[in-house]
Amino acid sequence: MKGIILAGGNGSRLYPTTFSVSKHLLHVYNKPMIYYPLSILMLVNIKDVMIVIKATDYSMYYKLLGNGKKFGIKISYSFQNQPNGIADGLLKSKKFIKKDKFLFILGDNIFWGDGIQKTIIKEFNNNKNATLFSYFVNNPNNFAVLNKKNRIVEKPKKNLGNEIITGMYLYDHEIFKIIAKIKPSSRNELEITDINNYLINEKKTKIVKLGRGVVWYDAGTYNDLLKVSNLIESIEKRQGYKIACLEEIAYLKKWVTKKHVKNIIKKYGENEYANYLLKILR
Ligand code: DAU
Repeated sequence: MKGIILAGGNGSRLYPTTFSVSKHLLHVYNKPMIYYPLSILMLVNIKDVMIVIKATDYSMYYKLLGNGKKFGIKISYSFQNQPNGIADGLLKSKKFIKKDKFLFILGDNIFWGDGIQKTIIKEFNNNKNATLFSYFVNNPNNFAVLNKKNRIVEKPKKNLGNEIITGMYLYDHEIFKIIAKIKPSSRNELEITDINNYLINEKKTKIVKLGRGVVWYDAGTYNDLLKVSNLIESIEKRQGYKIACLEEIAYLKKWVTKKHVKNIIKKYGENEYANYLLKILR
């Protein structure tokens, strides 16, 4: 199984903050945003990951995540230097995917909740070319909305209902043939929604509703970044467990040894995150 995280784009909704730093490296409460989509890939046992970034951001991503060894996985990078659309970003991973099925997550999408792993793993085994994950929200028009006729409309002006398509998609390699067929939209982007509507037309898609027990946020605006940070703080403080602690996930899955985590702790020094890692080793 393979996984892809899309972490390019200009993050212009978060200017001036993202003028000099990639949005996905900003912190969501106490860890970088990219840890959250990466945690989902790891939780569903994906150890072969590609992250699509801007070439100018490479050194910062590499400093943080390296080649993945730190988390017992393999991370490779590919580059999308112009934000020509989510589907264009996906195209940059074509060689990496070869003939595989894969989970594709937008780098600013944050998911957690009981049962989400099982839901995703179960979908890996269905025989459709694609699975989309929908979610009910109160502000649907900021996202891609699934209307009553089973069509997806990207950021509609009118009210078409509250079920939106999240930024997590399960595809197979056939997707690249479809991307080659579609044309850029009026905003000159290769739109993931056009790809998804194509798949729906061909009856090659399953849409799975994520239930109330799952939390989903797109952390792409200041308000949502703050809201999801506060929510994570509240849950972590209440439970004493961290959400999306990659070192912990790797250790619990036995992808890395105790000694390996101890070495990481040494590098992190004295802080709350390192203390938490020490605690899970006991
Ligand atoms: O969050 C879910 C929504 O994400 C979906 O419902 C929409 O269908 C989908 O278009 C997307 O909408 P956004 O307005 O949130 O897309 P945004 O431009 O913020 O891009 C999402 C992520 O993808 C972001 O982390 C940056 C990255 N990206 C985006 C584009 C357009 C790239 O890496 N390259 C790109 O060319």
